[in-house]
Amino acid sequence: MNVLTIFLFFLLAVCSPVLGRGQRCRSSKQCDYESVCDYGYCYTIDEMFEKQHILSMSPPLLIKNGTVVNEDSMFKADVLVSNGIIQEISSSIIALPEMEVIDATDRFVIPGGIDPHTHMQMPYMGEVTKDDFLKGTEAAVAGGTTMIIDFCCPDHRNGESLTDGYKKWRGWADPKVCCDYSLSVAITMWRPETAEQMAIITSPEYGVNSFKFYMAYEGTLMVHDDELYRGMQECAKLRALARVHAENGKVIKEREIDLLKQGVTGPEGHTQSRPEEIEAEATNRACVLASQANCPLYVVHVMTRGAAAAIAHHRAQGAIVFGEPIAAGLALDGSHYYDDDWLHAARYVMSPPLSRDPTTPELLMKLLAAGELHLTGTDNCTYDCRQKSLGKGNFTKIPNGINGVEDRMSVVWEKGVHSGIIDPMRYVSITSATAAKIFNIYPKKGRIAVGSDADIVVFNPNAYRTISKNTHHHNLDFNIFEGIKCHGVAEITISRGRIVWANGKLQTVPGSGKFVPLSINSPFVFASHEKREEKKKPKIVERLE
Ligand code: URP
Ligand code: ZN
Repeated sequence: MNVLTIFLFFLLAVCSPVLGRGQRCRSSKQCDYESVCDYGYCYTIDEMFEKQHILSMSPPLLIKNGTVVNEDSMFKADVLVSNGIIQEISSSIIALPEMEVIDATDRFVIPGGIDPHTHMQMPYMGEVTKDDFLKGTEAAVAGGTTMIIDFCCPDHRNGESLTDGYKKWRGWADPKVCCDYSLSVAITMWRPETAEQMAIITSPEYGVNSFKFYMAYEGTLMVHDDELYRGMQECAKLRALARVHAENGKVIKEREIDLLKQGVTGPEGHTQSRPEEIEAEATNRACVLASQANCPLYVVHVMTRGAAAAIAHHRAQGAIVFGEPIAAGLALDGSHYYDDDWLHAARYVMSPPLSRDPTTPELLMKLLAAGELHLTGTDNCTYDCRQKSLGKGNFTKIPNGINGVEDRMSVVWEKGVHSGIIDPMRYVSITSATAAKIFNIYPKKGRIAVGSDADIVVFNPNAYRTISKNTHHHNLDFNIFEGIKCHGVAEITISRGRIVWANGKLQTVPGSGKFVPLSINSPFVFASHEKREEKKKPKIVERLE
């Protein structure tokens, strides 16, 4: 081979790199001759064939002898599923040879969980969360969750448009998701073009009906009050839901500096930089701003008594505010931050922090029972031990985030139903139905009904599992719920009419989940909006002079 030939080979390789299986692609021409490009990734022909084959081969499923649980009723019935949809619910359906029969005797047949708050594969604090859309949705279905609403965070501060960020997230998620998903878009700065971009992204073409505003993380994600107020006004105009992460980013920043100066460098500094009243103050402020903007509000991860009280106070004034506690907040308290083992303490670092009051987890569950709080999420945002260790010597550098998507359904059952605080119907309400209503996909999701999507869980209230990193499906080397014994086990998970989890084994196909577009103007949120707007119209006094 002479020098010229080598050079030509080199040129060819550089100019048109051939992509192997699993690599990102824009068209099949880029993949090697054995692969095709599907939703941005190269797959071998065999993989594509298997994917299509599995998806098309799914037999009708007949779930027999179970107790169907919806948010408003419980009754014994058989449920027939085919083509991804619930076809029939009646007291006795005769099994035909082509059907796969699932015996649900002594089991509940419930809508698959909807987790309205996840951060899969999210780039933040210089790291990317460990659960990508594959591992994250595998963990979800292994725990009985069949839909996630993930946060898309465009780099809007540096000029990235909301739609470009959205396309990036779709590119990451579509080829990997093993259950359905939707996106909620974060607005991290108010720019001249923001309002117009919000309008575009709420169109049916994009299917986004909520926006998130951070009142924390000054200098990166945080918006200031005027920006938040503008954003809320825009949400109200578009009939999109405003969601807030309620903390006081500026005060936190000051406290962090003070604590570091005083030599508090470990994870205990994280909780001390964010006293509970800081979350309460910001929650109240968000409610006031939302009221001024006549904008319904959704407060993510309500962690403390004071924040919950602020929501209750504003609801009593007639405000439309929804409060979302998360699995971690319902099961754990902030004593972990003071653990002698640095790494143990760092694993629990999230914002707002777990409550310092050990009675808070039960209180939050009681507020869910009372209807003062409304639905449960997880804030699944996983950083592993290596990533957490980046904050050794400075707690402000510990990546914020915890796991939850796999364990939420069991944790909420254990702390809610098994402990006697809520009944199975309320359980369905706070794990799927209310989320489906708020995000305008009810009863397609969140209900066992004829015509609804066949996202179903066969749930055994008598079985129990002990949560452990050794058995979970997260891409994570620890689990914040390690050792917690939970009654209530998702034995079989069905996504779009196909079994994706059974007998303790995943049967997932990457990319088999679908993006679910969410439309604006959810009646559950906005049905009284026009009347409220009329009442808020400015008054003009006509004078003669
Ligand atoms: O600690 C948290 N909540 N991590 C996720 C990032 C965020 O705050 O949304
Ligand atoms: Zn979050």
